[in-house]
This record gives sequence, structure tokens and C-alpha cells, in this order.
Amino acid sequence: MHRRDPHYKQAKQRGYRARSAYKLLDIQKRFNIFKRAFYILDLGSAPGSWLQISGKIAQENLEKYNDQYYHRDHFKIMGVDIKKISPLENIKTIKMDINDPEFQNEIINFFQEEKLDLILSDAAINKSGNKFSDQIRQNRLCYRILEIASKNLKYKGILVVKTFQGQDFDKLIKTMKNEFQITKSYKTKATKKKSNEIYLIGLKKK
Ligand SMILES: C[S@@+](CC[C@H](N)C(=O)[O-])C[C@H]1O[C@@H](n2cnc3c(N)ncnc32)[C@H](O)[C@@H]1O
Repeated sequence: MHRRDPHYKQAKQRGYRARSAYKLLDIQKRFNIFKRAFYILDLGSAPGSWLQISGKIAQENLEKYNDQYYHRDHFKIMGVDIKKISPLENIKTIKMDINDPEFQNEIINFFQEEKLDLILSDAAINKSGNKFSDQIRQNRLCYRILEIASKNLKYKGILVVKTFQGQDFDKLIKTMKNEFQITKSYKTKATKKKSNEIYLIGLKKK
């Protein structure tokens, strides 16, 4: 985070752990991804601003959607990162690489074999500075995230995944289109102009 960045200041004032909070809030405003979301998995969560937002909205959803349509009387949120995530109330956090095959068991155990409403991923590789190889590595991470979504997301569930625009971008979108009825790409207002970061939003898993 950069101290002169307005989103950095705002994040600090509002108690968010990272300026990335504004990226998720912008995606929510545009696509309403948290509609009836109670079971949520966040990949690459540290330091935890997306988890803070998920916890707040999921709590609000308990009352907001207490009707005859799909709803739950509780929420379950899990966040994972290779870095330690400081504890957050009512949210399960684990320190693990999402490429670890054991991760699937963690998901199954925590959500007790139920499918998820929403999977978020702001996970990003450590950039080397070489745009070409960084994009390949980030893409590989995205395919792993798609695999996790394919196994754990419910029918009509939603996936948000961060990637970098570049050579293999079209192929990744194509793969997502096979999994979701609608796939959108979106550069958030909080993403820096120079950055090639872009979010893919899969709406309604097939
Ligand atoms: C941009 S940060 C996430 C910020 C977070 N959304 C927030 O709001 O606080 C990206 C995170 O992805 C994590 N990450 C990258 N590769 C990962 C992997 N294979 N498994 C788990 N976490 C990973 C990094 O450790 C880093 O903390």
C-alpha cells in the first residue's frame, strides 16, 4: 500500500486491512456477487480485507434474505493464504498453499461437504518483474482456482478470480465460459491504471 494513495488512506480510516477492499466493493456494486451468499471461500486472503467485507455482508444477508427462497440461518466463511492471516471473528482462516492436494479436504471438512455460494480469489503470485513469465505463473494459479471452483461451487454459484491480462488471457476466459453461463472481465476502479490486473467474474456455474 502506498501512503499517498487515496484508497490507502480511506482503507486505513475505515479499518480495512488492505486497499484491495475497494476492488471487492466495486465488483460487488457492479455484479452483486454477494446476493444470497452464505457459504464463502476466499483464496489468497492475507491480510484479510476481502474476508472483513465477506463477513459483514454475509451477516447482513442472514436477515436480508430470510424469505421463502434460498437462504440459511448461519454463514460459513473460510480464508486461506500461504501467509498467516490474523484472526477474524466468525471466520475460519488457514495457512496453506492452495496447490496443496490436502486443501480439498480442508474445504470438505469445514463446509461439511456442502457446496459453496461464492468463491473469491485475489490470490497473486509474487511478481518477478518479467511480465511474460509472471502472466504464465498467474494463469497456472487461475487454472487451479478454476479446478477448486469446479469441485466446490454450487450450481449457479459465483466465482471471482484475479488475473493479469496478456497472451493466455483469451484461453482462460474460454475455459471459464465452459464452466459458467456468463463470464465477465472487469478492471476495477481501484486498480491502478498502469496495472494489467483484471478480474474474471463467473456468474451462474453450469
Ligand atoms: C493481493 S494479496 C490478497 C489481498 C486480500 N484480498 C485482502 O483483501 O487483504 C494476494 C495474496 O495471495 C496469496 N497467494 C499467492 N499464491 C498463493 C497460493 N498458492 N496459495 C495461497 N495463497 C496464495 C499471497 O500470499 C497474497 O497474500
